[in-house]
Amino acid sequence: MRKNIVAGNWKMNNDLAETQELLSHLKMQLVKEPKADVYVAPSYISLFSAFESLKGTAIEVAAQNMHFAEKGAYTGEISAKMLKSVGVKTVILGHSERRAYFNETDELLAKKVDAALENEMTVIFCFGEELKDRKADQHFEVVKNQLENGLFHISKDACKNVILAYEPVWAIGTGETASPEQAQEIHAYVRKMLTEKFGETIAQDVSILYGGSVKPDNAKDIFGKEDVDGGLIGGASLNAVDFLAIVNSFE
Ligand code: PGA
Repeated sequence: MRKNIVAGNWKMNNDLAETQELLSHLKMQLVKEPKADVYVAPSYISLFSAFESLKGTAIEVAAQNMHFAEKGAYTGEISAKMLKSVGVKTVILGHSERRAYFNETDELLAKKVDAALENEMTVIFCFGEELKDRKADQHFEVVKNQLENGLFHISKDACKNVILAYEPVWAIGTGETASPEQAQEIHAYVRKMLTEKFGETIAQDVSILYGGSVKPDNAKDIFGKEDVDGGLIGGASLNAVDFLAIVNSFE
C-alpha cells in the first residue's frame, strides 16, 4: 500500500542555528504516531547537523538537489555519495525552481534520477505545468512529457524508491492553490500513466504528493482526494505549527 507523506522543502531558507531551532520545535511537537511519513529538506550546509539531531525521531532528512556524477570537477556540486555519507538517503529532483532558474532539463534530470537510484536513494520527483500551459489546455501533455522524459526509463523494481510530486508552477509560492479537484484530476492521470507503464500493483504503491501553496486550512481537502497521498510543502514548512498541522491533516 502506498504511504501518506508530507515533505517540507525549505529551499534557500534557514541558517544552521535557525535550522536547529525549527527542528527542535518539530521534534517536540510531532505526535507520537504521525499518520504520514515526514521529511524535511534543509539546505546542504545543514544536512549533517539535521540528520544528527533527528536521529531516533520519525522525521527523515532529504536533500533539495544533487549532481549526477559520482565525483569530479563540478565546482559547487554535491554527489549522491556525499549525501549518503552524512546520512541523507532521499533527494528532491526536478523542482520547478531548478528547472526554471538552473536550466535543468528532462534529460539532465533523467541522469540525476539514475545516479540517485543507483546509490539506493529515494527520489522525490517533481513535475508540473506552468500557467501558460494550463491556459492553453496543455497541462496533461506537459506532465506526460516531463514524466516520460525524466523518469519513466527506470525499471519496475526502482519504482519502490520513487515518490512523485505534482507541483503546478502557477501555485508555488503564489498563495494560489490548485483546487482539490484539479489536483485529483492530474494525480489520477499520472496514476493511469504509471499503470500503463509499470502495471497496476506498482501504480497503486507509488505515493503522489501535491505541492503548491498547501497550508493548514486547505491540506485536509487536498489530501482527502483519492489519488493525493500527501504534500510537498514550501512556505508553510518553515513554521513548525503550520507544518505539523499539515502533517496532522490526514483523516
Ligand atoms: P509553496 O512551495 O508551498 O511555498 O507553494 C511548494 C514547493 O515549491 O515545493
